[in-house]
Amino acid sequence: MKKIGSQATIAIDGPAGSGKSTVARRIAERLGLLYLDSGAMYRAVTLLAIRSELAADSPELLEQVKACHIKFEDNGKTILLNAEDVSVQIRTPAVNRRVADVAKIPEIRHEIVKHQQRIGGEGSIIAEGRDLTTIVFPNADFKFYLDASVTERAKRRLAELQRQNVDITLAAVEAEISDRDEKDKTRAHSPLRAADDAIRVDTTDKTINEVVDFIIAQVCEDEIG
Ligand code: CDP
Repeated sequence: MKKIGSQATIAIDGPAGSGKSTVARRIAERLGLLYLDSGAMYRAVTLLAIRSELAADSPELLEQVKACHIKFEDNGKTILLNAEDVSVQIRTPAVNRRVADVAKIPEIRHEIVKHQQRIGGEGSIIAEGRDLTTIVFPNADFKFYLDASVTERAKRRLAELQRQNVDITLAAVEAEISDRDEKDKTRAHSPLRAADDAIRVDTTDKTINEVVDFIIAQVCEDEIG
């Protein structure tokens, strides 16, 4: 396992199904980095809203967000919300449908971004999401923007959902991620976009390992050079 600098940050952004999480997780293992799944935090907050039946923009939800404890264990594999393991509950279709509406609320983002920046201060990290290269870690040492065709992304997501025994069609998954892309890219606060200094990677015809190797080559070349 290689180790990059003692306080290095790799930030990756991109839409749903572009491969960010799987790629970031593998790179974290190979390079011995902390892994931050920023989307899991927005998903956890969405679970709070669903369980409490609160509107995304309600002051009560913001209070709950300020008061809640979100913690990762097992290098990002497990997420604890107020000490409860919600790793599975945050990936349901109900959360998928609501999360972009919760994530567009500026006050909620403000709380979550503070938390993410604190985690980033703990050591070398690979972090992925929608605004990691632009807002959370604008000075990241390495920035990547992953993308793929919407059909390819829907196929990947369908395979993941089928592994969890969720009964859903490809058309429904494609509609859900297109809707979420649109909301994430057009929101007023911290929209999904490629940072000017991010390296763009089209993963449509690439395997996970090809993307992992490409990113590691960029990072390590820079470390050596
Ligand atoms: O895994 P997938 O790409 O489907 O989604 P995710 O990374 O878990 O993020 C779920 C949702 O959270 C996104 O569609 C965004 O609405 C929101 N999100 C965000 O606004 N900012 C981030 N840094 C990460 C996620």
